[in-house]
Amino acid sequence: MELKIDKEMPADAPVGVFDSGVGGLTVAREIMRQIPNEKIIYFGDTARVPYGSKSKETITKYSRQIVRFLQEQQVKAIVVACNTASAYALDEIEKELDIPMMGVVKPGAKAAVEVTKNGRIGVIGTEGTIGSHIYSTYINQIDPGIKVTGKACPLFVPLVEEGLWQDPVTDEIAVRYLSGLVESGIDTLILGCTHYPLIRSTLGRIVGKGVTLVNPAYETARELKELLEKKNLLNQKKQELGTERYCFYVSDMADKFQTFANSILTYGILSAKTIHIENY
Ligand code: DGL
Repeated sequence: MELKIDKEMPADAPVGVFDSGVGGLTVAREIMRQIPNEKIIYFGDTARVPYGSKSKETITKYSRQIVRFLQEQQVKAIVVACNTASAYALDEIEKELDIPMMGVVKPGAKAAVEVTKNGRIGVIGTEGTIGSHIYSTYINQIDPGIKVTGKACPLFVPLVEEGLWQDPVTDEIAVRYLSGLVESGIDTLILGCTHYPLIRSTLGRIVGKGVTLVNPAYETARELKELLEKKNLLNQKKQELGTERYCFYVSDMADKFQTFANSILTYGILSAKTIHIENY
């Protein structure tokens, strides 16, 4: 079978995945699980996290620099494993590229529409993602009758980055953020920030059994597989574990990132390297 696209990108080239920090690892983990033959180059912008409180212009500039870095690594496709960057920068940057690029918002919106029974969906995310109304836009394109209620939860990202996944402080803040959403009668809640699946058990406990949590990472990995298949870019070669298969880069604090990544991924990552993303 021919495994090339127009620009002769080989199917065994890696997939680029990026986020503001560790959150995108929840998406990378799902890609590793669903399409284990794929090599991944992950970039976490640990020097400039959080993205959620910054402007569209700034996030577009950061995303463009990361995309340039990933292209230099000869990736065959790019996954924006960050809701904020998907909301702010994806549309503009994908037009500039000759490789496929996808985000996490559209897959997450689609999954939530499939899950809801009462037509009331809640979305939690960064100030940027919620302020952009991107989830309600996509959801209402599929079904205009669905009521979408958004809630920005800016303190969740630092709590996750600090490793406070099971902590009374996180519980307290989650109750404050989520009680209004639960009272509004939602039956589905989109975890609209890639950091949030790491506090999934806390969130699930607070919203209760009547609300189904949607993690867009699962649907994103599924759609990535479909996209690669369509472009004849799905890697058929089985990969050995090692640096060749999964490479991690950050813009600061590589050691801290490495420890964190090792606690999320099911195998030890060999190393994370720091690069100067401002040079791109
Ligand atoms: N994990 C990111 C998201 O999905 C961004 C978090 C942040 O940097 O504020 O939006």
